[in-house]
Amino acid sequence: MPINGSIILPGDKSLSHRSLMIGALSNGMSVINNISTGEDVESTRRCLIECGIFSEKIKSKVEIHGGKFSEPNNILNCGNSGTTLRLLMGLLAGQGISAKFIGDKSLSARPMNRVLVPLEEMGVSFNSNDGYLPITMNVPEQLNAISYNMSIASAQVKSSIIFASLGAMGDTSIYEEIKTRDHTEIMLSNLGVDIKTNKKIKIKENKRSIKNFNMTIPGDPSSASFFAALTAMIPNSNLTIKNILANPTRTGFFTILKKMGTDIKWENMRVECGELIGDVCINSQPLCGIDIDSEMVPSIIDEIPIISILATQADSPTNVSGASELRVKESDRIKAICINLSNMGCEIIEKKDGFIINPVKKLYSTSINSFNDHRIAMSFMIANNIIDGENIIDNTNCINISFPEFEDILKTIVK
Ligand code: S3P
Repeated sequence: MPINGSIILPGDKSLSHRSLMIGALSNGMSVINNISTGEDVESTRRCLIECGIFSEKIKSKVEIHGGKFSEPNNILNCGNSGTTLRLLMGLLAGQGISAKFIGDKSLSARPMNRVLVPLEEMGVSFNSNDGYLPITMNVPEQLNAISYNMSIASAQVKSSIIFASLGAMGDTSIYEEIKTRDHTEIMLSNLGVDIKTNKKIKIKENKRSIKNFNMTIPGDPSSASFFAALTAMIPNSNLTIKNILANPTRTGFFTILKKMGTDIKWENMRVECGELIGDVCINSQPLCGIDIDSEMVPSIIDEIPIISILATQADSPTNVSGASELRVKESDRIKAICINLSNMGCEIIEKKDGFIINPVKKLYSTSINSFNDHRIAMSFMIANNIIDGENIIDNTNCINISFPEFEDILKTIVK
């Protein structure tokens, strides 16, 4: 059955983490509406509360009383959330707060040296399990500013350094070769922090306090990608997704979908709290394959699993390269995509830094291993709608990490 309708989605995960962290830094009470209800964002809120920040939450509305952080009495448990851990290390370092961090099995297997190295340069010392959790962070009274060349395209690393720089002596600069999501820069600049962005990000020594704010988080474009992909794969379908974050560092998926042949229109564009927001209209058209390289990867880093499902329905091959970061996400996503799609009968070749899909269109239902990764589970639930029968996915609870409302919203568009 074709899809035909309109949906509104819960708030963007990246903005939700940052609004809590920046709310905690600011002077007074901030109110955040439409915050992501996923477990990852709640990990951030819980850790901030452990550090003496007062916050209340009613459904998707959060109040956060910024001010003085205190050293946590307990170990900070970041759960499954790389954003919580990496950003919080920089944020707490900038506030002179030492802490010990742990996380779940997946987070404990993810590399943290990418954040420990620049923070060490700023004067922080760490005891870690060779760059992995558990990590104990000891923060000196005064941090040094640094000039840092990013060797990995990572908004998490960049944001961690930016947060730490807010407590450093002198001006900090960060150089990134490929631009990554810039929400931290936008939000801080909007609240009066002297931060200039380009390929080089410059943060002036911060002497002023940050203003409190009221904010409504726009819909998550990464969550939107699942419904947009489904619409694109079903002939004669159209869907409007309203109030979506349309920051160009996050809309790579829609650019790729358009290049694959889908009719995509953005409407109602506006700027709120410095972020571009709009409604995106998706009209299905026959799909072709696409070549994806390292330049494009940061803007679609979380969307590659669902792009792999789309690629199976194209009339030409898709080649993804320069995406080795996928190996160190919540799971090894290259392996997860290749194993599951190949079990569904797709011709897929695994590469170190990506994969090649030769589309077969007709896929079979099978048992899917989600590797406890929310984006893998959601991608293969979407695939259920283009096959005869149904994939049996070993664990769909992991979807709660980012998007507890996923199945309910899916049911409203798939009749
Ligand atoms: C995020 C950045 C990305 C992304 C993650 C959220 C963020 O990670 O994969 O889901 O909010 O900064 P990297 O920047 O480390 O690739």
